[in-house]
Amino acid sequence: MDIVDRSVARAPKAPLDPKNLPFGRNFSPNMFQVDWDEGKGWHDPRIVPYGPLSLAPSAMVLHYGQEIFEGLKAFRHPDGSVRLFRPDRNAARLNNSARRMSMPEIPVELQLDAMKKLIAIDREWAPPVPGSLYIRPAMIATEEGLGVHSSKSFLYFIITGPTGSYFSGGKSTVRIMVARDWVRAAPGGTGTAKTGGNYASSLLAGAVAKQKGCDQVLWLDAVERRHVEEVGAMNLMFVFDGVVTTAPTSGTILAGITRESIGVLCHELGLPFVERAIHIEEVFHGLSSGDCTEIFGCGTAAVVSPVGELLDGETLYKVGTGDEGPVAKRVHEALTAIQFGTAPDNHGWMVRV
Ligand code: PLP
Ligand code: COI
Repeated sequence: MDIVDRSVARAPKAPLDPKNLPFGRNFSPNMFQVDWDEGKGWHDPRIVPYGPLSLAPSAMVLHYGQEIFEGLKAFRHPDGSVRLFRPDRNAARLNNSARRMSMPEIPVELQLDAMKKLIAIDREWAPPVPGSLYIRPAMIATEEGLGVHSSKSFLYFIITGPTGSYFSGGKSTVRIMVARDWVRAAPGGTGTAKTGGNYASSLLAGAVAKQKGCDQVLWLDAVERRHVEEVGAMNLMFVFDGVVTTAPTSGTILAGITRESIGVLCHELGLPFVERAIHIEEVFHGLSSGDCTEIFGCGTAAVVSPVGELLDGETLYKVGTGDEGPVAKRVHEALTAIQFGTAPDNHGWMVRV
């Protein structure tokens, strides 16, 4: 499918400084759009200036939340090229989300072609590392009507923007609140889909966490309320007696691409890595006894975020020394070296724009 180019040319006014690029606040001048209609499929792919979308107030996405999205990054390499990190995995995950949310899949080749063309046009908006160009593909239900059924028309779009660090304030560790009063996703629900509703339903817990001085919420399983699932925008890893341990992707958590990549890197670094159910009491005991030496979150926006403290009710547990631990440091360095192009990309993870 040929992508029509109606982009505007606009370079940043000043050199982009990763230290002054809060997450998700700045957007590149152009965006990609393609429409889907029942009986017609995907049509009219185009790159147009970034700007408001025109939607009917009765558009289904506004009422019933039929929406999915992705998040990935591109990095500026030492040779000046701009490279995407594992975009094929995000494209495949978008299609998994689409299936769960009764939305049309979009060919992986079209998603990748659209990302590459859009970023090639706005390449000057990719800041120097450790900054990155954050890429946000999304699909929304556009049919006008208030009956509850799967929309007969959709818009897929991609916006991008230069970004520095997800957690502002320059601190090196995060404080996480264990959610006891709310759940994120139940078996059979939409936990594995990257859909707006999962995030909307987490906002109240997030606000309470903030009031308590925490950065994010740790979700427990919805049935027994005792197994660790994930954090608001990251998967979670625990180091128990030197073993990097993470919860299985059993249907209620997002199958993170950073999580998957860290599994591969741990293997190469000689760090034992297992996926298994993790009991929250096991974590508390481990933190008290010293068997659990580190906890860190991982995700596209968050990269590798060491957890310094865990708050459960009134009890505050310190994790290790409260600073970044040695395993998180090694994993972080190994991952970002590939992303930044300072270590060989033996897995073919980086895709040139
Ligand atoms: N879990 C949730 C709920 C997320 O929003 C994210 C971020 O995308 C992740 C985990 C990490 O996934 P990934 O590594 O693919 O960014
Ligand atoms: C990402 O890491 O790309 C995400 O989508 C997290 C986002 C919800 C802030």
